Amino acid sequence: MLQGANWSYIVKDQYFYAYKQAKRRDDDIAIVNMASNVEFNPGTNTIKDISLAFGGMAPTTVLAMKTKNKLIGKQWDEKTLEEAYSSLIEDLPLNPSAPGGMIRYRRSLTLSLFFKAYLAILNQFEQRKVPVVQKLPQQYQSASSGFHSKIPKSSQYFQVVPADQKDTDLVGRPIVHKSAFKQATGEAVYCDDMPHFENELYLALVLSTRAHAEILSIDASQALAMEGVHAFFSAKDLQEPPFRNCHGIIHDDEVFAEGKVTSQGQVIGAVVAVDQITAQRASKLVKVEYKDLEPVIITIEDAIKKKSFFFNSPKEIYQGDIEAAFRSANHVLDGEARMSGQEHFYLETHCTIAVPKGEDDEMELFCSTQNPSETQRVTAEILGIKSNRVVCRVKRMGGGFGGKESRMLVLSVPVAVAAYKLNRPVRCMLDRDEDMMVSGTRHPFLGKYKVGITKEGKIIACDIEIYCNAGHTLDLSGAVTERAMFHFENAYYIPNARVRGYICKTNLPSNTAFRGFGGPQGMFFGENMIREIASYLNKDPLEISSINLYKEGDKTHYNQPLEYCTLQRCWDKCLKTADYFNRKKQVEEFNRQNRWKKRGMSVVPTKFGISYTLLMLNQAGALVLIYDDGSVLISHGGTEMGQGLHTKMIQVASRALDISADFIHIAETSTDKVPNTSATAASCGSDLNGMAVLDACETLRKRLEPFKAANPKGKWADWVKTAYCERVSLSATGFYKTPGIGYDISKNEGKPFKYFTYGAACSEVEIDCLTGDHQVLRTDIVMDLGDSLNPAIDVGQIEGGFMQGYGLFTLEEMVYSPTGTIYARGPGVYKIPGFADIPTEFNVSLLKGAPNKHAVYSSKAVGEPPLFLASSVFFAIKEAITDARAERGLKGTFKLDAPATAARIRMACEDEITDKFPEPDPSTFTPWNVVP
Ligand code: MTE
Ligand code: HPA
Ligand code: MOS
Repeated sequence: MLQGANWSYIVKDQYFYAYKQAKRRDDDIAIVNMASNVEFNPGTNTIKDISLAFGGMAPTTVLAMKTKNKLIGKQWDEKTLEEAYSSLIEDLPLNPSAPGGMIRYRRSLTLSLFFKAYLAILNQFEQRKVPVVQKLPQQYQSASSGFHSKIPKSSQYFQVVPADQKDTDLVGRPIVHKSAFKQATGEAVYCDDMPHFENELYLALVLSTRAHAEILSIDASQALAMEGVHAFFSAKDLQEPPFRNCHGIIHDDEVFAEGKVTSQGQVIGAVVAVDQITAQRASKLVKVEYKDLEPVIITIEDAIKKKSFFFNSPKEIYQGDIEAAFRSANHVLDGEARMSGQEHFYLETHCTIAVPKGEDDEMELFCSTQNPSETQRVTAEILGIKSNRVVCRVKRMGGGFGGKESRMLVLSVPVAVAAYKLNRPVRCMLDRDEDMMVSGTRHPFLGKYKVGITKEGKIIACDIEIYCNAGHTLDLSGAVTERAMFHFENAYYIPNARVRGYICKTNLPSNTAFRGFGGPQGMFFGENMIREIASYLNKDPLEISSINLYKEGDKTHYNQPLEYCTLQRCWDKCLKTADYFNRKKQVEEFNRQNRWKKRGMSVVPTKFGISYTLLMLNQAGALVLIYDDGSVLISHGGTEMGQGLHTKMIQVASRALDISADFIHIAETSTDKVPNTSATAASCGSDLNGMAVLDACETLRKRLEPFKAANPKGKWADWVKTAYCERVSLSATGFYKTPGIGYDISKNEGKPFKYFTYGAACSEVEIDCLTGDHQVLRTDIVMDLGDSLNPAIDVGQIEGGFMQGYGLFTLEEMVYSPTGTIYARGPGVYKIPGFADIPTEFNVSLLKGAPNKHAVYSSKAVGEPPLFLASSVFFAIKEAITDARAERGLKGTFKLDAPATAARIRMACEDEITDKFPEPDPSTFTPWNVVP
C-alpha cells in the first residue's frame, strides 16, 4: 500500500482572519490551509481514499466531499487534476459579495493548494520509483516544498572611535540605550504605569459608528444610571465660552462631534466612572441616534470623483520647462501607482492622565506624546485658560512613529476636560481596538504621472499628480503632502518637473504623521517610474537607476543643490557588499530551474530631506542644571520614544562638559522646563536638541573654566563645588535654530532642507507563485549617517525602520467596509512583521569617512530615512513576478499596488488557475482593502 502526502500550508496573509469576527455567512470560506491525505490502491495506483480539508480557523474547515467522491478510483494524473479543479470550483463556491472580498484570490488559492498537493504526491511517487502515468517536470520539483530555510545571520558594520578619544567621551560609541535593560525587565515606567492618584477616575470614549451622519440625539441616561458612573461629557459641555470645542490648523478637529459625524471612530462623548470596566460598560450604554448623510467617501478615487478636497487648488512645485522637455523626449510614458496606509501599532497605545492641582486652574498632564507643547497649548485653549497653568510631562513612550505627534489630542483633550470639570484626576489608556479606530494611519497615496525620457532611459521631464487620503480632518496632511511632493523623485535627477499635490477629504479617521511623513509614498512613485522605464526599454532597472542617480551639485526640482552628496558612494558600496552582479546571475539560473518558485533581486537608493518643512518648527531648547555634588540634570525639548534620543543627548553632554556619563541624568520631558518645543519628529530630534544641549553645556563650561584653571589637578565635582561657593549660577538654557533654511513654494526658491540622509539597499526574495507567499532571503544596506553619535542605536534604527517599512510594503493593509467601518482592529486582522520576516541574511553598514558639517558633532539624522529602503523587497518581489509572468508569455509592465500582499502576488502571477476566475470588470476599480 502506498501512502500519499499529508500536507498543509499556511499563507502569510491577513485577509482570511479579518471578517470572522465582523460577520459570518455560510458561504464565507476562508482558506488558509489545505490538508490532503491520499491512500492508493496497491498495484493499480488508483486513488482509494482521499481527504480534502480546506480551512481557516477551526470552525470553518470545509471538506470537499463531492470532489473526494469523484476522485476515488482515478489515476493520479493531469486529467484527474483538471477534474478536481472543476469539481472544487463547484464544491467550494464563494459568493461575489462574501465578507472579506478577494474572491478571485480565495478561489484561485483553493485550486493552487490542490495543485501543490498534486505535485507533492507526484514527487513522492517519483522518490519511491513508482511507475506513474504523469512525470513530474524538473522545474516543478520545488513547488510543493517550503522556502529554503537557512540559519539566519546578520552583520553590523560601523567605524570605531579614534584610539586617542578619551574614555569618558561617549560620542560615537555604541553604548546601550539608557533604558534598554529596564524596558526588557518591565521596570521602565510608561504613562499608564504611574500609580493611581487619590480620587482618580477613568474615562471611556463614545465613538461614532457612522461615517457620515447627522446626530439626532445623544442619550446618556442609562449610562449615568449605572453605579460608579460620575459624568458624561459631550459637545454641549464645551459650547459656552471660555471653552472651545475645536482645534487644528483650520479648526476642523472637534473635541466632541457637534451636530454631525464625518467618520466612524470620531469621538462623540466620554463617560467618566470609578474604574475602567465601569466606564467602558457605561460608554456602550450611551444611545446615539443618527440620520445617515450622503455621500460616504472612503477612497481617493471616490474623493476625486466627488471633488472632495481640502483646498480648491492643489499645491504646486514647478521647475524648468516641462512642455519643451516633453517635446524633446524620445519617449513619454504614463503611469500610476498606489500605496495603502499603515497603522502605527506602537506597543503602547494612546494614554493620558490629567491631574488638576486644586488651585488657580493648574493642571498636570501625563501623556504619551511626541508633542508635549501642543498637548499643553491645545488643552489650555479648549479649557479657556493660559498655557502657564498647564504642564505636560512625558517620561517615555512605548513607540510613537508619528502617531503621537498630533493625534494624542483625540484622547488627551477629553481627559483634560473631564478632569477640569470634575476637579479630579482622570485617566484613560485606549484599548488596541479603540486606538486603531480613532487615531488614524499613514496616508494612503495615489500618484498619476507622465515621464519624458531619452532613448537611453534618462529622465528629462516629469508631470505628476499626487493625491493623499487625509481622512475627515486636515491635521498634518498639508505638510505630509508637501513632503511627498519634495520626495517623489527619490534619488533621481529630474531637470523639468511639475508636481501637484491634492489633499483628499474622506470619511475615514484623520490620517496623520507616520515615519517618513509622506516621503516614502512620494519616493515610491519615483521608483515605480524607474521600473516602468526599464521595462519599456527592456533593460535592468539597475541600469536606469544608475544613469539617473543624483550627482554632487545637481539641483532638485525644488531648486536645492546637493552638497556633500554621498548617494553614489552608498550605491556603489551597496552593490559591492551585496555582490549584486554575481547573485543576479544566480537568481536568473534559479528562475530557469523553477516554475512555481521565483526569485527576484532589487536595489533601491534613497535620499531624505532633513528639516521640518514648516520653518518655524526648526528650533529647540534645553535646560541644563548642575547640582553642587557635580551631578547634572538635563532637560531638552525632545521626547524619548525608544529611538535613543536621551541616550544620545547624554553622549553629547558628556563630550561638551568633558565628564563621564555617570554624572548625567535625563528624567523626563516637561513643558515647565523648556517651553514652546516642536514635536519630536522629522528625524531631527537629536540634530535640534543636540545643538541646544551643546549650547547650554558650553555656557556652563565657560562659567566653570576659571575654577578649572585655578585648580587643574582638581576634578569636576571640585570645580562645581567651588563655583557654587563662589555664587556662580549653575544652570543654563540652550537654544538652537537651524540656520540657512526657508523655502517659498510660490517662487520655488530657498532651501527646505538643511541636508540629506542617503542610503541604498539591495534585497533578494523568493516567492511562491501558487500561494503568493514570500521570504526575504537577504538584504544589504549601506547608509551615510555622518559620524554616527551612537552606531548601536543608529544601526538599530536602520534595522527597525527597514522592518517597519517591510510591513508597509508587503504585509500591512487597513481594511474598511464600503460604509467606513474599520475591520482591522487588532493583530488578528492586521499583520505586522514578525521575527520570521526578518531577512534571513541581514547586513547593515554605515558609510565610513563622511562627516556631516550640518549637525551636532558631524552626525546625521536617522529615524525616518531607512524606512523607504524596504521598498527594495517590494521591487524584488515585482522582479520575481515578472519572471513568473514571462513563463506565460506575459511581457512588459504590469500594475502592482503596495503592499505586495500574498493575494496581490498570487494574482499577478497569472497562470492556468487564475485564468479560471476572470476579473469581473476591470473598468470598475475597487481597492482591495474596501470589502463587504
Ligand atoms: N524609533 C523607535 N524605537 N520608536 C519610535 O517611535 N519614531 C520614528 C523614529 N524612530 C520612532 C523611532 C520617527 S517617526 C521619528 S520622526 C524619529 O524616530 C524621531 O526621533 P528622532 O528625531 O530623535 O530620531
Ligand atoms: N515632519 C514631521 N512633522 C512635521 C513636518 C515634517 O516635515 N512638518 C510639520 N510637521
Ligand atoms: Mo516622525 S513621522 O516625523 O514623528
